[in-house]
Amino acid sequence: MSEIAIVGAGVTRFGKRDDVTYRELMAEAVAEAIKSTNGELRPNEIEGLYVAASQPELLVDQAHVANLGSQLFGLTPNIVSRVEMACASGSAALRNGWAATKSGLADVVLLVGVEKMTHNPALASRGLCLVPDVENESLHGITAYSGFALAAKEHMNKYGTTKEQMSSVAVKNHYNGARNPKAQFYSKGEITLEKAMSAPMVSDPFNLYDCSPLTDGASAVIITRGDLARKYTDQPVYIRGAGQSTEPSLGVSNMESITEWQALKRAAKQAYSMAELKPSDIQVAETHDCFTIAEIIEYEDLGFTEKGKGGKFIEDGESSLSGSLPVNTSGGLKAKGHPIGATGLAQVTEITEQLRGAAGPRQVADAEIGLTHNLSGFATHHVVHILSSNPK
Ligand code: COA
Repeated sequence: MSEIAIVGAGVTRFGKRDDVTYRELMAEAVAEAIKSTNGELRPNEIEGLYVAASQPELLVDQAHVANLGSQLFGLTPNIVSRVEMACASGSAALRNGWAATKSGLADVVLLVGVEKMTHNPALASRGLCLVPDVENESLHGITAYSGFALAAKEHMNKYGTTKEQMSSVAVKNHYNGARNPKAQFYSKGEITLEKAMSAPMVSDPFNLYDCSPLTDGASAVIITRGDLARKYTDQPVYIRGAGQSTEPSLGVSNMESITEWQALKRAAKQAYSMAELKPSDIQVAETHDCFTIAEIIEYEDLGFTEKGKGGKFIEDGESSLSGSLPVNTSGGLKAKGHPIGATGLAQVTEITEQLRGAAGPRQVADAEIGLTHNLSGFATHHVVHILSSNPK
């Protein structure tokens, strides 16, 4: 069975999008993805549709959004589903679409990710509090902010990671976001370390610049069998490795370690092994920087650096645009934004653009192999994809 290839990928502008409705956002992303193909794709060729959406019932009073997608795009797919894995919905949708294509159930699959959050920040924040273990943790004050803050404190205690190193993640990602016109904070430009470190406190040790924002946005990716890919594009991007794993825990309190994410290590191992590649082969990565400490832990658990050395990795500039392994060239969740259901496929879109040499001022020279990492909950569930401009 041939490898699966991405033939189209696109994102909307992220941010406060009062100018469009939820469904218009979806349509905008799909139009962008189709624009990145050669124009040969016909709606009746799309045999699979997965829509990644975390909380449309709560946020926009609409359920059954995969069927909404088939209505919007005039599709009659024989495999269609909504995928809900909170912040990792988009990459879980890709994994489902990849499996459907690999199995021969569908030759061409459209994946759409979407969330609209900014029109009601209180409701969006409530929605985020429903993701962890509500009965045992959220109701007692462990929310996304405070849960990841616990991990940050523990990482600081164990490995000597500093607040300055965490703020450096924000500085880097805002620098990259200032080079991405679709990023939420594009027009706000770069920030200094001093600004990042002196922002108002959210949940100790996190201040405003350690957190990703609330965002409206959508993303779309079109995949097909590798042997069909050149019908739709001259620049296919191959899914060389795919991995997914979950902790046997919904909340933070039952995790084996909150500073060493076993499920991420398992997902990464699956992806590297399928791709027959190692961490040092990765030339560009989009990782899940929902809070700055997350990106630091991910450097370690994805194998980019030794355990406990993530803080030094950012401090030494290794993950900057001109470093040895640029991470979150799009601006990441921190500066590009984090519309929950759309994030995973937006990461895939960024790496696709990088591998096609289409990332403009944030292009990583000669990038041929990239990685995406998307998580949900308190880092209790992870999805990793390894993409390449060359098939195996
Ligand atoms: N980073 C940088 N700037 C931010 C920001 C962020 N995360 N969030 C908001 N801002 C900016 C706004 O652009 C605005 O700037 P302006 O005054 O120049 O227009 C200012 O801060 C105030 O915006 P506002 O929307 O009122 O902020 P807020 O205090 O209501 O919300 C947070 C800030 C951090 C609480 C909010 O962004 C948030 O909830 N983030 C976490 C989301 C999350 O948990 N996602 C899931 C992760 S698992």
